[in-house]
Amino acid sequence: MHGDGIWWKGVGLLLALFWLADPVMAAPAAAPTDESKADALVKPLRGFEHLSRESATCVSCHREKSLGIYQQWGASKHFRANVGCYECHQAKPGEPDAIKHKDFVISTIVSPKDCAQCHKREVEEFDRSHHATAGQILGSLDNVLAEVVEGAPLLHGKSPVVVSGCASCHGSEVKIKPDGTLSAAGWPNTGIGRLNPDGSKGSCAACHMRHSFSAAQARHPDTCGRCHLGPDHPQKEVYEESQHGILFSANLSAMNLSSDKWLAGEDYSAAPTCATCHISATKDLPVTHDVGDRISWDLRSPISIHIDDRDRKKGLQDPKAWLERRKEMKLICVTCHGANNGENFFEQLDAFVELYNEKFAKPGSRLMKTMLDEGLITKTPFDDQVEWTWFYLWHHEGRRARHGAAMNGPDYAHWHGMYEVADRFYMKLVPEVKEVIAHAEQQGKKESAAKVRTVLDDILNSEYHKWFLGQREKKAAEAGGAKK
Ligand code: HEC
Ligand code: HEC
Ligand code: HEC
Ligand code: HEC
Ligand code: HEC
Ligand code: HEC
Ligand code: HEC
Ligand code: HEC
Repeated sequence: MHGDGIWWKGVGLLLALFWLADPVMAAPAAAPTDESKADALVKPLRGFEHLSRESATCVSCHREKSLGIYQQWGASKHFRANVGCYECHQAKPGEPDAIKHKDFVISTIVSPKDCAQCHKREVEEFDRSHHATAGQILGSLDNVLAEVVEGAPLLHGKSPVVVSGCASCHGSEVKIKPDGTLSAAGWPNTGIGRLNPDGSKGSCAACHMRHSFSAAQARHPDTCGRCHLGPDHPQKEVYEESQHGILFSANLSAMNLSSDKWLAGEDYSAAPTCATCHISATKDLPVTHDVGDRISWDLRSPISIHIDDRDRKKGLQDPKAWLERRKEMKLICVTCHGANNGENFFEQLDAFVELYNEKFAKPGSRLMKTMLDEGLITKTPFDDQVEWTWFYLWHHEGRRARHGAAMNGPDYAHWHGMYEVADRFYMKLVPEVKEVIAHAEQQGKKESAAKVRTVLDDILNSEYHKWFLGQREKKAAEAGGAKK
């Protein structure tokens, strides 16, 4: 990463050997300081004056045994600050994943709790984010897919689909074997919400990959695109389609990604990256490791609600208000746009979300609920065709549409989005609901069939959908669309 890496490594090596010979020099001369919020923007964390004796010992062996790790660490900020192997990997005897290693007690896992020795603020912010809870997906609908529908518990009681799929993004539950080493059921893994043996959540290496632990790498959109891509959350693809993504690729060398201070507008202006909008600082806004800090909607649930309502539903007291979060996002936009651009942009987004909610998501959800309540589909998820149809509608197509609208991806807002939502709704969901009704009638479940039919008729006769019955009023069409 840095041209002066080799010089530093040479000095480090000499120093390491020197301190090995002189234990008195090994004690850290200056502990890293905790930064206050005010000067956190620019003031770098202070490191140690010397590499510790323990770390020098690790290095003396590992610079031959693990050349790659030694090189990565040698080019890192940690190396220059004399933060060595032992400062991160040390463990207390008795900790669940502590292993005896040569003359030391260490653990392979370095959790956010370990990083928090020196990076308290980042860990606290990360800890309150949805990233930190991403490993707790056991009860979700998608999880039934990976554990049961697609999978089977063949890997120490886990489904291999969960381990190589879901958990690689969301985070595994790290399991320890009796000898203290890590089980293949949960490691290697750097999923964003990993459940660690010390009880902490997450993996900082999900974004800051080992052993360079660099800010520059985390600012690059590819870092986020590792998880935020694909048919159900194509943020990476949306970004690449947007003017922002195009400008980023066209001006990579002007992005100044390796700068210590990285304020939008001051240190770069060519384009915003994912980090610019969701994490990094402007002159008015500090860095945040809570990626929910600046977003107002939940755009991934079947029906979108504001993010603070979602938190309240989950039992969180007094979550940060969505308007407050939106205000912060707008502060980012105005570093490169006029204020009206941001205002209008969010008006467009809100209208889009409302349309998706009212026209497709709420009616679809109402149909599914009625069929379930009437016992016309089973409680077992994914054993009825119509359940797959509904899942595609909100989980794939409906999310794509909303993400496209939120981040300037017109092809995702429309062709991969609402176009497919509409196709799924009219050409699959409605006919399949009709089949369920017909089947119920054949089986003599007249009352249940009638209830579902009433709901379907009610939906199809509403302003949004009556065009489908051939009843679209000329007037409404002339006025530019239907109103409920
Ligand atoms: C005398 C040489 C030597 C010293 C000293 C040494 N290591 Fe190692 N270490 C090794 C070798 C060799 C391996 C690979 C062995 C293996 O994985 O089977 C290893 C493996 C590891 C692993 C990976 C364990 C795993 O789960 O696969 C970690 C982490 C580690 N060392 C950290 C350290 C730290 C931290 C120190 C200093 C406190 C240290 N080592 C000191 C030789 C050494
Ligand atoms: C800033 C903290 C930090 C420092 C400094 C550090 N490590 Fe690590 N190391 C980590 C993290 C994080 C992991 C990933 C473990 C996990 O998944 O939690 C890791 C993993 C490892 C592994 C297992 C890697 C693999 O892919 O199998 C080895 C071996 C290792 N470190 C050795 C070292 C050695 C040797 C040094 C010193 C030259 C060192 N580490 C310095 C944080 C650190
Ligand atoms: C013993 C203290 C210590 C520990 C433990 C530690 N760090 Fe650091 N870290 C530092 C210091 C000091 C710096 C600042 C170096 C500088 O600014 O030159 C730093 C810098 C960083 C940076 C900024 C790098 C850049 O490119 O600007 C990142 C990211 C980082 N650490 C992540 C981590 C992670 C992740 C862990 C845990 C796996 C960790 N650190 C553990 C002391 C520590
Ligand atoms: C490629 C990485 C990746 C894989 C693989 C993956 N997910 Fe996700 N998942 C994500 C991302 C990123 C989000 C957030 C999407 C968003 O913000 O729109 C998410 C969202 C979710 C949510 C919604 C959480 C919420 O807060 O609403 C659930 C539940 C979920 N995933 C479960 C699973 C399960 C179970 C699997 C395996 C069957 C899985 N995921 C596979 C990356 C992944
Ligand atoms: C979702 C990705 C992501 C995760 C996970 C993440 N970081 Fe960061 N981190 C970033 C980005 C992006 C930056 C660069 C911010 C900027 O522009 O200065 C950063 C910067 C940093 C810095 C440099 C100081 C600063 O404010 O710029 C430190 C230290 C740091 N992270 C520590 C951590 C620790 C500790 C963890 C684990 C709790 C962690 N990070 C997890 C993305 C992440
Ligand atoms: C290792 C996988 C992974 C990486 C890397 C990752 N994320 Fe995420 N992210 C997730 C998952 C999974 C979720 C959904 C968590 C949940 O709600 O359960 C998520 C959720 C989010 C959310 C929604 C937060 C909320 O409060 O609703 C935002 C915004 C986000 N990520 C931004 C980013 C950015 C920006 C980066 C890169 C700097 C990034 N993520 C890197 C997996 C990842
Ligand atoms: C120009 C700023 C900007 C950029 C660049 C950007 N985003 Fe976003 N992002 C937004 C806005 C605005 C929203 C919607 C905010 C709201 O709900 O108020 C959003 C929403 C999200 C969400 C929430 C989705 C959900 O399901 O709730 C995730 C996750 C996300 N972005 C990830 C990313 C990733 C990953 C990248 C890069 C590939 C990225 N963003 C690039 C501005 C940006
Ligand atoms: C680092 C600078 C920067 C930041 C920050 C930024 N943008 Fe942009 N944005 C641009 C540039 C440059 C363009 C390309 C303008 C053009 O097409 O000539 C652009 C284009 C756009 C477009 C397309 C405009 C059009 O005329 O077609 C929209 C919409 C947009 N940005 C919204 C936002 C929003 C909303 C935010 C904040 C969440 C934001 N931008 C943050 C630089 C930025």
